[in-house]
Amino acid sequence: MRVLDAEFIKGFIRLATDGFNQGWHERNGGNLTYRIKTEEVNSVKENFNTNNPWMPIGTTVKGLALEYFLVTGSGKFFRNVELDPEVNIAIIEIDELGEHYRILWGLCEGGRPTSELPSHLMNHEVKKQQTNGLHRVIYHCHTTNVIALTFVLPLTDEVFTRELWEMATECPVVFPDGVGVVSWMVPGGRDIAIATSELMKKYDVAIWAHHGIFCSGMDFDLTFGLAHTVEKSAEILVKVLSIRPDKLQTITTKNFRDLAHDFKVTLPEQFLYEK
Ligand code: 13P
Ligand code: ZN
Repeated sequence: MRVLDAEFIKGFIRLATDGFNQGWHERNGGNLTYRIKTEEVNSVKENFNTNNPWMPIGTTVKGLALEYFLVTGSGKFFRNVELDPEVNIAIIEIDELGEHYRILWGLCEGGRPTSELPSHLMNHEVKKQQTNGLHRVIYHCHTTNVIALTFVLPLTDEVFTRELWEMATECPVVFPDGVGVVSWMVPGGRDIAIATSELMKKYDVAIWAHHGIFCSGMDFDLTFGLAHTVEKSAEILVKVLSIRPDKLQTITTKNFRDLAHDFKVTLPEQFLYEK
């Protein structure tokens, strides 16, 4: 099969376009990676070029040895993924030590995978192990309102989770584990990858202060939907804070407990504090 005819490529491209249309991908902002299923690899492997050199990942991901990923290219614009996928995205393979990757398809005019590859792969490694292989998508986007909030709210998991939950009744159902927050760090390296993957052990969402968010999910719809829900909630909070500094009423701790009971979700006590 031609790579571009594969459903997983189409889903990846659709997410890129949807994210761009939301305004979360100025210039080359954001990146996306997908851990490809074995049967999907087999369906397109006749197109692979195995002559490219092995390159260092910049960290070690033993739990992803011999896995295949579809990734966005570093410096590539989400706007262009749909227009010219072969130039802007790539399929890569991880070596048996989890230390190197090589490009098998795509980035046909040159380039390398996203500079956030260490964060993506370390997140994938955590989520693959934790979800028994169910999570396959890691998505990084520059969500405007979440970023704005990182300038005015304390950078704690407790405050961000609780404030975002309060802004939309469905939020605790969509992300019952809450969200984690990483204080400002230099992007693109191993240190921020370690900090983010630590949070991914507890959450499906990690906020990077003054930068954006990382989301993990089983498929493209769920992962995009998660980012969309978090950002929508942040947008409501920005509006509320812009109208008046204090809320007149909100969803209370008791309301959250009632919701958790009826929707059969477990909300961590850490976020059910009295305010
Ligand atoms: P890349 O173009 O290397 O993916 O970087 C974009 C980005 O958002 C860095 O955090
Ligand atoms: Zn970024």
